[in-house]
Amino acid sequence: MLIPPEPYWLRPMVLPDLPEVREIDRLSFPTPARPGLFEHELEQNNIAHYLVLGMLGEMNGRSHPLIGFTGFWLIADEIHVSTIATHPQWRGHGLGELLLLALLRESYDHPATMVTLEVRRSNTVAQGLYRKYQFEEVGTRPRYYRDTGEDALLMTMPSLNARYFQFLEGQQADLFQRLRSEA
Ligand SMILES: CC(C)(COP(=O)(O)OP(=O)(O)OC[C@H]1O[C@@H](n2cnc3c(N)ncnc32)[C@H](O)[C@@H]1OP(=O)(O)O)[C@@H](O)C(=O)NCCC(=O)NCCS
Repeated sequence: MLIPPEPYWLRPMVLPDLPEVREIDRLSFPTPARPGLFEHELEQNNIAHYLVLGMLGEMNGRSHPLIGFTGFWLIADEIHVSTIATHPQWRGHGLGELLLLALLRESYDHPATMVTLEVRRSNTVAQGLYRKYQFEEVGTRPRYYRDTGEDALLMTMPSLNARYFQFLEGQQADLFQRLRSEA
């Protein structure tokens, strides 16, 4: 697991995290995850892997609060990003990037060879993050999101090879420097 600079920490998601995870999920998506989904993912879905990002200290009366989370499914040698979100109060500080970086570094441990995900066509913030990590748009799924009828863009990072790992190391160095300077 990636160890970020203090005050941030990352670890696998566990059941007691779920009240905070659900709150971030509710604040982040037009339709929150259905009841029981995270429990199912953690307890019964063997291909699911979830990480939480938090920080040392206090926020809104909570000690060591969660700031964000991400999850993926490992399907053969493919990683599919199932979710990623940061708390609205903490956006724009490189923490979504930290979660994606942690997920991509985990991908090498499994090992996987490619990463796929779907993103709403209107979600240019998330697309910017994925493009920064060399994801490319490879197709669309028309009206994929039932809540808004919006199309999904299908994006992939097709080659989790040694060269991409080097790229991740460079991105990590830059991001950690930013996190330390803004801490
Ligand atoms: C997508 C999300 C996880 C990004 O997290 P974040 O903490 O705000 O993002 P970061 O500060 O780490 O920014 C990473 C990159 O995202 C893009 N980005 C972030 N904020 C942006 C903005 N306001 N406008 C455009 N691009 C933006 C940039 O490419 C940025 O890289 P940069 O810092 O070098 O410019 C967060 O916005 C979120 O939780 N959104 C709601 C849930 C969601 O849409 N998840 C994705 C589902 S596919």
